[in-house]
Amino acid sequence: MAATTLLNLLADGEFCSGQSLADALGVSRTAVWKQVNKIAADLGLDIETVRGRGYRIVGGIDLLNKAAVRAQLAAPARSLMSELVIHEAVDSTNSDALRRARLGAVPGLVCTAEQQTAGRGRRGREWVSPFASNIYLSVLWQYEQGAAALEGLSLAVGVAVARALEALSVPDVRLKWPNDVLHNGAKLGGILLEMEGDAAGPCKVVVGIGLNVAMSRKLALGIDQAWTDIASIVGDAAPARSHVLAALLNELLPLLSAFEARGFAGYRSHWQGLDAYGGQTVVLDTGSRQMAGIARGVDERGALLLETSSGVQTIYGGEISLRPGT
Ligand code: BTN
Repeated sequence: MAATTLLNLLADGEFCSGQSLADALGVSRTAVWKQVNKIAADLGLDIETVRGRGYRIVGGIDLLNKAAVRAQLAAPARSLMSELVIHEAVDSTNSDALRRARLGAVPGLVCTAEQQTAGRGRRGREWVSPFASNIYLSVLWQYEQGAAALEGLSLAVGVAVARALEALSVPDVRLKWPNDVLHNGAKLGGILLEMEGDAAGPCKVVVGIGLNVAMSRKLALGIDQAWTDIASIVGDAAPARSHVLAALLNELLPLLSAFEARGFAGYRSHWQGLDAYGGQTVVLDTGSRQMAGIARGVDERGALLLETSSGVQTIYGGEISLRPGT
């Protein structure tokens, strides 16, 4: 709690004296000094200390703000969101949403965090999740007709993310099958769906979205692929993270609510319009084998259509990359 208050006091990047922080927190100046050093080390923040002026977070930080998120929700999203949780740090917002689902949380639960300590990507990869830099969002939903009714949901979620970015005036966003969000070939975001329950009956799904907003190069050193963030694309016009979160929820919650009735077929043409690799020669890696071909978009179930020398193959899982030299 003290850390949250301290972070809020220092968030604007202006100097705050040790005494004013001590007064606000009701602790000694020595305790402030210890607390500042701890948050700097724990959260990877660049905190400057100047004698006579106090402490400041260099460049300031953009913290999530519940009231600001709620204020920017349109009526449909507001009525579909059952609860909004913002963690200062959590292992993974997906894990948190799954845990809460087991304890009886209802559809529309939204879990977010300033930082994930064990963020998870697809195919067992780590999702690098530094403090107050990006969006880490998980939404719980429930479907009555089992896993089969959810075919293509993760691709439809990609459409929702692209629409949200369009609403935020982030240009030229594309989707890479199955669900990477790209800008100029670099990864801007990713989607990870996790399910629980009956494959044939009611099942709960957690939709996880990671979206890079403003990430320092230093904190992103662990990322092993080309990446970008909203700040690099739009510069000074970058929206606050609370605004980005609200824009995502405005698209995502209505989509989750409509998906069971509409199915992926209702989003397919929009997905095709955003397809980063359509018509290009790609290599598909399924883990056990590699296949080259021309990407021909997706079918109404969300499967990739890959044109190979032996005809058009329908692919349900794997990873595609552009074939080198094409
Ligand atoms: C990918 O590998 O492209 C998917 C990345 C998904 C990351 C998000 S961040 C919020 C949610 N919590 C997680 O641990 N993962 C997802």
